[in-house]
Amino acid sequence: MNRRFLFVLGSARPDGNTELLARRAAEQLPPDVEQQWIDLTAHPLPDFEDLRHDSDHVRPAGGSAGLLLDATLAATDLVIASPLYWYSVSAHTKRYLDHWSGWLRTPGLDFKATMAGRTLWGVTALAHEEAAVADPLAGTLNNSAAYMGMRFGGVLLGNGSRPGDVLKDTEALARAKTFFAGEAPFARFPYESD
Ligand SMILES: Cc1cc2nc3c(=O)[nH]c(=O)nc-3n(C[C@H](O)[C@H](O)[C@H](O)COP(=O)(O)O)c2cc1C
Repeated sequence: MNRRFLFVLGSARPDGNTELLARRAAEQLPPDVEQQWIDLTAHPLPDFEDLRHDSDHVRPAGGSAGLLLDATLAATDLVIASPLYWYSVSAHTKRYLDHWSGWLRTPGLDFKATMAGRTLWGVTALAHEEAAVADPLAGTLNNSAAYMGMRFGGVLLGNGSRPGDVLKDTEALARAKTFFAGEAPFARFPYESD
């Protein structure tokens, strides 16, 4: 299967630091790797409704949910590009992840088996100088990948507050150059020992 990267953009503003950093990393991908970029503000998902224990979830017929589901299923590599909001992923991003819970219960999708073995990556921008404050975001993505049986490539962090600030973070730009290189290990929950 040729590699196909899906970039899910979760900022609440256009042309922000997270997208700028993700695009810098994506520039390094070989030309035969397909890229799809979906901005969650341009394709808003409905509120997630938890029907798991009442009835089957139904495969979305078109709309933003259908677009995102099809793109997710087609991706070998899924990049969650979310700014750090309150130390975790943005609400747009969280809502996308919540929809996975419905897709896991949608007959005929085999969502978990399909995603298993694929790679989840994270890109984030944050205003705080110390990267450790983004640990909850990294934990959310790592544990979600572990639950899904996915590989996890880690989180590319960049610093900035105003749009464009991240382009002054030379260390982040250097990390972006090699971020997608190499094979990511299978994700493990923190309690799982080596
Ligand atoms: C709702 C909201 C919550 C935020 N929470 C944090 C935070 O917890 N820690 C932090 O360092 N920066 C926080 N920020 C700042 C953003 O992470 C920062 O401006 C980042 O560059 C935004 O990325 P973007 O340009 O891709 O939207 C917050 C910004 C907003 C709007």
